[in-house]
Parts: sequence; structure tokens; C-alpha cells
Amino acid sequence: MGKDVIIALDLDSRKKALDFLDGFSEEKPFVKIGMELYFAEGPAVVREIKARGHKIFLDLKLHDIPNTVKRSMARLSEMDVDMVNLHAAGTKAMMEAALEGLTRPDGTRPILIAVTQLTSISQERMERELLIEKPLDQVVMHYAQCAAQAGLDGVVCSPLEAGKVHDACGNSFLTVTPGVRFAEGPAGDQARVTTPARARELGSDYIVVGRPILQAADPASAYRRCVEEFVG
Ligand code: C5P
Repeated sequence: MGKDVIIALDLDSRKKALDFLDGFSEEKPFVKIGMELYFAEGPAVVREIKARGHKIFLDLKLHDIPNTVKRSMARLSEMDVDMVNLHAAGTKAMMEAALEGLTRPDGTRPILIAVTQLTSISQERMERELLIEKPLDQVVMHYAQCAAQAGLDGVVCSPLEAGKVHDACGNSFLTVTPGVRFAEGPAGDQARVTTPARARELGSDYIVVGRPILQAADPASAYRRCVEEFVG
């Protein structure tokens, strides 16, 4: 599985997304479509971007009873996306059902990765509201191991956690890592950031990059710089 840069298309309309992608004349970046764009435009925008030749990570973070997730994953798989995700908190039974639903009649399926604990959840809130009283990093690693045991392909995590995830779940278990910034760029609301070059050293398999590319004066050259630093 090759390393790649995934651009987070955190935009609220089809027009903005297509205008942005029109800026890429030489390459077809792997893009992440999240809830904002998907809820604004529905499956049509996914199909349209796919038809333009982009790989798509559909970031909808499913979490429901196993049967519902299985049936929903089958619909996502029909959209021919390349990567989808769910919450590991749904348990192994839900993750296994998701894999079944995703697998197409010809045996192929999109890459399936898990969200462990959201980075917005602090140790204090996890203890007080979720009644989980273990150290957060231990919880993240346990959820990653459950995802691996269920047969998933990887997890979303910080580049700073990529090495530990690989140690716990194997080197072929994918780490898809947001929180990436250029050395001289603003961190924004990301608390712990890493450069593309550092993410590569730390063993990330895919970096997810939003604002450093979306808000760059020249997004295509910011993307190329990410690829150069991360993929080489
Ligand atoms: O703009 P920025 O590079 O911070 O975008 C990062 C992307 O990765 C956003 O789409 C954000 O929702 C997503 N993400 C994240 N942290 C996580 C999970 C997803 O930043 N833990």
C-alpha cells in the first residue's frame, strides 16, 4: 500500500469543491469528503468527483447497530469509494458486519478504517461523561487492536501515535493521520501538529491535509510540496 496525501475537501458545496479541483491540472489528488459536503450534496457529488478520476475517502464515521451498519456500508460500497470509516466504539461485532456489508460481489471492497477516540475528547471528559477510567492513549491503542482483530485495515490517529499503532497492530495496519502543517504555517485549532516530512519519519501511511492546502494562495503547489515531503 503506497503512501499518499489525502486532501480534506472541507467545503460546503459542489461548486466550491469542483472549482477547487479545477486548480489541479497535472494530478488527481486523493480527496476526503466529509459530512459537510456529503450532507449538502449527497451521493451525486461523490460520483461526480470519482468520475473525474479522484480516489475518495468518504469520512462519514458510521456508528449504529451491526445490521444497520452492514446495510449502510453496502450502499457506500456501491458508490465505488476507495476508503470509508466507522467508530471502533461500535464494537467488533459492528466492525465485522461493516466489512461484510462493504465487500462487493466480486470480492473487492473499499479500505475500512476506524476512528478510536476523537481528538476532541479529553481524558477528563472521557472519565466524567463516558465513564472510561483508563489512560486515553491506552484506550486508543485498545480500540485500534479491536479494529485489527475485527479485520479492519487501519485507524485514523495522530502521526505521533503511528509508531505505537504499528507496534501493536502490525506494520501493514494503516495509519491515516490528520494534524499536518508546514513548518512555518499556522496550526489553527489543531493542538499537536506534525510536518509532512516528520509524519513520513514517524511511519504514517496516509496524511490528511485540509487548510494548509485549501487556504494556500496556490493550492496545487502546496499539495505538491506535501507529496514531495511525505512521499518523496
Ligand atoms: O484543515 P486540517 O488540515 O486541520 O483538516 C484536517 C481534517 O482531518 C479535517 O477534515 C478534520 O475533520 C479531520 N480530522 C482531524 N482530526 C481527527 C480526525 C479527523 O483533524 N482526529
